[in-house]
Amino acid sequence: MSLGRNMSSKVYDFDQVIDRKNTHSFKWDNVTYPPNLDMLPMPVADMDFVVADEILAAIDKITSHGILGYSILPDSLKLLAQQKIERDYSWSTSIDSQVWIPGIVPGITAACAALTNENEGIIMAVPVYHPFHLVAGWVNCPLITFEMIKEGDRWTFDFADFERGLQKGPKVFLLCNPHNPGGTVFNEFEIKRIVDLCAAYNVTIVSDEIHADLRLHAQSKHISIGRFEKQPIISFFATSKAFNTAGLGGAVAVIPDAALRDKFTKASAGFFSMLSRHSIEVMLATYAHGEEWLAQLLPYLKTNHDLLLEYVRATPGLTMQPLEATYLAWIEYDEVLLGDFQKKCWDAGLHVLRGEQFKGRNFIRLNFACPKSVMEEAIKRMKSITNG
Ligand SMILES: Cc1ncc(COP(=O)(O)O)c(C=O)c1O
Repeated sequence: MSLGRNMSSKVYDFDQVIDRKNTHSFKWDNVTYPPNLDMLPMPVADMDFVVADEILAAIDKITSHGILGYSILPDSLKLLAQQKIERDYSWSTSIDSQVWIPGIVPGITAACAALTNENEGIIMAVPVYHPFHLVAGWVNCPLITFEMIKEGDRWTFDFADFERGLQKGPKVFLLCNPHNPGGTVFNEFEIKRIVDLCAAYNVTIVSDEIHADLRLHAQSKHISIGRFEKQPIISFFATSKAFNTAGLGGAVAVIPDAALRDKFTKASAGFFSMLSRHSIEVMLATYAHGEEWLAQLLPYLKTNHDLLLEYVRATPGLTMQPLEATYLAWIEYDEVLLGDFQKKCWDAGLHVLRGEQFKGRNFIRLNFACPKSVMEEAIKRMKSITNG
């Protein structure tokens, strides 16, 4: 059976509105949505766009074959990942340093389980992607946080606060680069400062770089912290977020230090499922052929970003720093002027996440990876609150 993909059509139509309801979508089939309200969902981080043709073709190939047994991880996948890390993130790594895992969140959990204990825990900047702070409870270790601060028109670390936290004796620093939420792409100066501080306090860096390819400015560079290793670092990469295959899973941990790699592998032994045939074939297709789709996607995301930013800047009571990466806007609201803005959005039929989920008060997180017409409808719904 051939499903006849037209591989030559290379202009992707991100304007197309695709109905995702009744597909068991975590985003669209949210059971808490009032049945009588036409909710616009902009919470969890996946995109309302069809993936690259080559990814669909890889899935077609499996469907035609029809067998879904256990799979092995091919050397070609390891090589493609290694080449991408070198080409796009300027970090030369060995294939032996790779550990393939079903997802980055399980990887972070395994790393924290391996490296922390009841007294010596994890440090991270907040606000942050919620599994980062939740993992302390999952592995039963202390959580130390320090604040992100605004510098110019971007979010960065309060490095003095970071150092005070390091003095409390954590074992692991969890880095989210680019940062979710807030979209900071950490520059070389910041990365080196993080490395120096963690080395001074003998803290292992666990770095989640899942958003690395979602940079909204063509000229910006992603800098992998692993490049500056002064002591063992675990770096996580995945194609799933940037290429919209998050539901399939698949990620790689790069751990050059053999002893740390061994600790990580032992902590995860028996917990992780093998990667599925779909996950492997899709990652192969993504690494080999995904770039054209991504090159068309990024300016589209930037247009939505700019529309949103324009609205926020024109609206008393709302503020937002322009994102350097990700499609997850982090919008602050003035509670005195606007009340509970997240709740008001919900009542107006717009589901955005409450800042507290990420340890940020008076913020919403809005996912703008959707067709432009949907973005405009979301802004219209927010305007019905802010102009009303
Ligand atoms: C920073 C970050 N890390 C990890 C994930 C999820 O990774 P995975 O699906 O591989 O567990 C997300 C999803 O939004 C994320 O934003």
